[in-house]
Amino acid sequence: MKYVSHAVCLICNKTFEKGEFEYVCPDHGNEGILDIRYDYDAIKKDFTKKKLAANRDLSIWRYKPVLPVEETSLGPNLPVGNTPLLNLDALANQLGINKLYLKDDGRLPTASFKDRASAIAVVKAREARAKVVTTASTGNAAAALSGLCASMGQKNVIFVPASAPQAKIAQLLMFGSKVILVDGTYDDAFDLCLKAANEYGWYNRNTGYNPYMSEGKKTCAFEICEQLDWQAPDVIFVSVGDGCIIGGIHKGLKDLFELGWIDKIPRLTGVQAEGSSYMYQAWKNNENIVTKPGIKAQTIADSISAGLPRDRIKALDAVKATKGAFIIVSDEEIIRAIPDLAEKTGVFAEPAGAATWAGVKKAAQKGMLKPDESVVFINTGSGLKDINSAMKAVEFTDMKYFRVKPSMGEVKKIVSDLQL
Ligand SMILES: Cc1ncc(COP(=O)(O)O)c(C=O)c1O
Ligand SMILES: [Zn+2]
Repeated sequence: MKYVSHAVCLICNKTFEKGEFEYVCPDHGNEGILDIRYDYDAIKKDFTKKKLAANRDLSIWRYKPVLPVEETSLGPNLPVGNTPLLNLDALANQLGINKLYLKDDGRLPTASFKDRASAIAVVKAREARAKVVTTASTGNAAAALSGLCASMGQKNVIFVPASAPQAKIAQLLMFGSKVILVDGTYDDAFDLCLKAANEYGWYNRNTGYNPYMSEGKKTCAFEICEQLDWQAPDVIFVSVGDGCIIGGIHKGLKDLFELGWIDKIPRLTGVQAEGSSYMYQAWKNNENIVTKPGIKAQTIADSISAGLPRDRIKALDAVKATKGAFIIVSDEEIIRAIPDLAEKTGVFAEPAGAATWAGVKKAAQKGMLKPDESVVFINTGSGLKDINSAMKAVEFTDMKYFRVKPSMGEVKKIVSDLQL
């Protein structure tokens, strides 16, 4: 927080000094998402690549000068960050590009990208001396908040659609959260959570409302660039629901560019499901993102099912400012991408995570990637989060298993057919 200079409303550009804002711009209500701004000249004097390289803390707190927190010791007792960036040369070859990397955020403590934002949320809640923290979520942000709260004994109340995958609900219950299952959509859960937070004075982590969430999510961009020795890739693929992740990645890249640590900002490609493609439509048709009404969202990729993306202003800017693109993939393409990615890389992703792989393949087919380019795609959630969707993939592919009596004779028959 030392280097945070102010915050800006992304609708009216009004600025707010530190201590003058809590969540959104009062003139624009829940839509008035703020962007946190830093004093980069001051950061440069204090924070260098050399200092960073010498820091043994591999968690997101290694980037503290560019994070909006006072005291990281208030944070969760679970390490967040430092996920692997896998080099996929054989797949790069097949796609006809120079380099392909997979950033696997399914390996964070609660098995999704959302731990990055929730780590900031629990510190901010402690700074605000909040008794209770709350969030609405399609499931992963909730599980992240819930798990990190459990690690530090922080009370929390969670609103999720009752239709959220069982594994995500199980995480919430195991971590001891007070869980409110909403008979409705994520958008309904979001509105209800806002009302409850206002009524009871709870600290609210909601995506696209709490301005600090993009700041946690940007740490993924910091890690990608650090792992690539500060040679920024040409393109990064991110799946998009509310748009907070892609906005956060953009923010991280802008920070690094301002600090002079990278010399270009990659094109950001947002991947949406065909049935939840608000951002794609707005971008393609050049629509006004502030006034465009919500749509009905329906996709198997529950984590990116968002009728009215709450962080749409930052998401659209991420794509437009970097001359990137939005791309849509069908539910079948998403489902097929789960085993395809798992089989080729050993990374098992949930539908929203595998959607980026479907997006990379589609972009390569459409000629959106050049032969000399290096591309990163992010897996945002573990496949163990949603086993039902993964098992649906069996219907689309030739994957099969064999059931036998415990006899070697039957096994031999099968093995001879398999031509191993
Ligand atoms: C696994 C996963 N991928 C992608 C997303 C999309 O992130 P955003 O809603 O910030 O666009 C989410 C959000 O819940 C998620 O859980
Ligand atoms: Zn405003």
